[in-house]
Amino acid sequence: MANVTIFGAGYVGVPTGAHFSRTHKVTIYDPDANKVETITKVIDGSSEALHIHEKGLIELLRENKNNITVTTDIEKALDKPEIIFIAVGTPPNEKGRANLKYVKSAAEQIAKYIKNDCVVLNKSTVPPGTAYMVKEIIDNNLVNKVKISVGSCPEFLAEGTAVEDLRTPDRIVFGCDDKEALETVSEFFLYLHGRSTLSPMSTLSSEITKYAANALLATKISYMNSLAMLCDAVGANIREVQEGVGKDQRIGRKFLNASMGYGGSCFPKDTSAIAEYGRLFNSPLEIIEATIEVNNKTTSYFTSKIIEVFGNDLAGKNFIVWGIGFKARTDDLRESKPVEVARELMDKGAHIHIYDTVKGALDNFVAENLSYVGKYTIHTAQYGMVSETIDALIIGNEHEKFRNPDVDLLNVMRGKYIFDGKNILNNYLIKDLTAKGFIYKSIGKDAVANEIDKNKLVDFLKNEYMD
Ligand code: UGA
Repeated sequence: MANVTIFGAGYVGVPTGAHFSRTHKVTIYDPDANKVETITKVIDGSSEALHIHEKGLIELLRENKNNITVTTDIEKALDKPEIIFIAVGTPPNEKGRANLKYVKSAAEQIAKYIKNDCVVLNKSTVPPGTAYMVKEIIDNNLVNKVKISVGSCPEFLAEGTAVEDLRTPDRIVFGCDDKEALETVSEFFLYLHGRSTLSPMSTLSSEITKYAANALLATKISYMNSLAMLCDAVGANIREVQEGVGKDQRIGRKFLNASMGYGGSCFPKDTSAIAEYGRLFNSPLEIIEATIEVNNKTTSYFTSKIIEVFGNDLAGKNFIVWGIGFKARTDDLRESKPVEVARELMDKGAHIHIYDTVKGALDNFVAENLSYVGKYTIHTAQYGMVSETIDALIIGNEHEKFRNPDVDLLNVMRGKYIFDGKNILNNYLIKDLTAKGFIYKSIGKDAVANEIDKNKLVDFLKNEYMD
């Protein structure tokens, strides 16, 4: 059992701390007294309201409460940790560069208060080289004569499934140029995971791995999204293409779902950050640049399908959005595509009726859209807003509650349109909906509901492909 300290009680720090506390003594430090009080109350059972919405997190914190301390007291937080994880925010600026001010301030505090040798690992997503900068800040400000090694330990958990992702990771990546420190970190993780899961490496490689992984996942999505637009153009079905492509194990089925675009706090931020980093080092990452461009284009493509039907002036139109979080089961609205689409429609005069399975997502929407008050209505029941005044249903995220809409209930809508922003309705349902007069629009599988104009395609080939 080791003593570890985590800087930052956010989306990464709290689930990670809770996971480590299964076998280690963990102190989570955050200067924000509200956050610390919230977590403390949840752990002691006097509250159920955690600022992070993660399945199983509250239970995990409580199960291991004897191993967890949450504090605003920096001296207590730095009382003999063997490893310190920095998991503070690195919000992007307008150029996509991560702002390292919170990382810097964590390094300064460590330098001031640490009294023993230890290893400091960056968990926050940072530009490669940051660990060297942290090392320099600590060494330049160190008050006590101790040895501090600095490295990187990127996080690969996804929001909403953090507890499970942490428990059963595909790999644990960590990097440090100091071999002894690397061994200390390996031992720490061996209490939690098998040796084959561990990927020790150099500091810079570890920092690049984080961006490389997220950018490749985002690229898979954009790649499928551009093919989805082609599928719509000719009359193919991207879901079927996805199956055919993904069954090749070299490619894999995951992250091939075409959608109105990827969102969240990670893919948009990290693709921009690594693209900018590549430009700065005169080593442009053209594929990632294209990934970003396609992602933006896909969202406009989806919105334009709605506008094509209803026109640019949406005054008097009422739309439902099911799922406002950037994906299912999260209250996080950062770079949420359904929010982007809803705002564009409200800007054009529409009224939006919003439902999400996560109450926090609805609360956050209200808090973050003050300038849109009066242009939307929040609903806490999935079908609460369905009435004859509704013009279309927009599916915003991939929650299973949205996969099987009750067609009879939807039938009262005056506009029989379903815009499926995550391609989650299956072919049978789409055919059933179409038979009942609905028009189905998606990202690359509109053809399910339409007759393909084979003659047009054949004529086209005859004209363009014969000498
Ligand atoms: C992502 C990565 O999946 C994690 O491995 C990583 O640790 C995390 O970023 C991070 O850097 O912290 P997250 O942003 O929580 O996790 O969510 P994902 O489940 O990856 O979804 C991201 C977006 O892609 C969502 O908008 C989702 O709807 C979309 N998506 C995902 C698709 O459009 N198609 C897919 O096939 C998969």
